Amino acid sequence: MREAVLSLSLSLSLSLSLSLSQNINRDLVNADSPSRMVKLNIDLILGGILSYTKKTRDESLNHFLSRLTHLHLEGRQLDDIECDLSICPNLTVIYLYDNQLSSIPVLDGNKFLTHLYLQNNAIRKIGNISTLKQLNKLYLGGNCLSVIEGLGKLEELEELYVENQDLPPGEKLLFDPLSVMAIAPTLQILNVSGNRLDTLEDLKPLNKLTHLYTTNNKLFDLKDLSNVVMNMHQLVQLELSSNPFCLINKFRDKVIIMAKSLEILDGREISETSKKFLYNWSVSKDAMKRRQRKNMKSVPSMNHFHEGDATSADVKVFHRHATVPGYVMPGLPMRKQFTRILAKATTIEKDAFSYNVHSSPSQAPKQSKEFIHNLSKRSDTFH
Ligand SMILES: *[C@@H]1O[C@H](CO)[C@@H](O)[C@H](O)[C@H]1NC(C)=O
Ligand SMILES: *[C@@H]1O[C@H](CO)[C@@H](O)[C@H](O)[C@H]1NC(C)=O
Ligand SMILES: *[C@@H]1O[C@H](CO)[C@@H](O)[C@H](O)[C@H]1NC(C)=O
Ligand SMILES: *[C@@H]1O[C@H](CO)[C@@H](O)[C@H](O)[C@H]1NC(C)=O
Ligand SMILES: *[C@@H]1O[C@H](CO)[C@@H](O)[C@H](O)[C@H]1NC(C)=O
Repeated sequence: MREAVLSLSLSLSLSLSLSLSQNINRDLVNADSPSRMVKLNIDLILGGILSYTKKTRDESLNHFLSRLTHLHLEGRQLDDIECDLSICPNLTVIYLYDNQLSSIPVLDGNKFLTHLYLQNNAIRKIGNISTLKQLNKLYLGGNCLSVIEGLGKLEELEELYVENQDLPPGEKLLFDPLSVMAIAPTLQILNVSGNRLDTLEDLKPLNKLTHLYTTNNKLFDLKDLSNVVMNMHQLVQLELSSNPFCLINKFRDKVIIMAKSLEILDGREISETSKKFLYNWSVSKDAMKRRQRKNMKSVPSMNHFHEGDATSADVKVFHRHATVPGYVMPGLPMRKQFTRILAKATTIEKDAFSYNVHSSPSQAPKQSKEFIHNLSKRSDTFH
């Protein structure tokens, strides 16, 4: 019967399709769904489609619907999807954002979907998407999700947007570990901003991420951040603004040291010069710390600082583990000393900490080398 209805050629008078859609609805949707404000039925689909695609004169409705690749249904106050979207089996992109949907529609027949735009609805649970093997981008920001789940079968998912969920008071967004593991091999872009997250630990398996947006959360612990980004070797952009830990002294420098691959932090480019300088700085501090520890054990002697201590091998080890060895956390005894040294090193402050993309890279290494050398000499006086 569905075949028969769908193969009727459409006389383009859309009022005619009213009875047509009722037939389809009875066939394909559970009939006892309560009546709501605006339901998506075939009238709306056709109405929407015909505003940007034309059905050719002698084309069957069936053929017309099957060749559609994009479905524009955004901003139509839809709160229910009454018809099965498998009537448009060749869809690759569905725009359903800015509606009032409380669940993700059944998409079993849309296995070619690559983009699904569902942001700014009232979706409470992620489901009905396990057949979307080719889905590339999933937009679910501004919904009512409390758990990120149901992503287990999305083998091609590269971008996931789940920012700003309308969470119950005091609750934070949760992540189902199995879903996170499942999308880890492919996921590159993730937006989890505005979800009261106080840790990123659940995101640790996502080691293919290139862009992570986690602004306006409750992140406070730099060690937690370090622990997570040390796994993300391809991370080029990190957005962290409006989190409690942004107030920590030298926050930006500390984050740059944690994530070697980073190119943009909080919307600002990181210059190669400042990056290199900061790495050397942390490596040299590590070397000094080790030296001091050694000296405390053996006969107290002069603190000779050999540049060989901070070899490129050290740098590599440092990056591989990314545990920020020489990294002076607030409150640790070394911190004051380095603050004092840095305060004195006005040249370096200006040239290497300015993040000036145009500063001459040829000059910087010499300066920082010299600076580190000076640092080691001065550190003697701080004992
Ligand atoms: C639907 O997509 C398939 C596979 O890409 C293609 O072979 C077919 O011709 C398409 N159907 C229409 C009606 O365009
Ligand atoms: C799947 O879609 C149906 C029909 O719209 C809906 O009733 C159901 O709640 C959805 N399931 C999930 C888990 O979203
Ligand atoms: C991520 O979400 C935040 C909060 O809504 C938004 O401001 C930002 O533009 C989003 N970024 C991307 C790339 O989606
Ligand atoms: C970093 O340290 C290494 C080893 O000491 C040195 O060769 C290199 O020039 C330094 N680079 C910068 C930018 O200070
Ligand atoms: C290192 O110390 C020397 C002598 O105190 C000073 O002239 C030079 O500017 C310092 N270099 C740096 C990079 O701090």
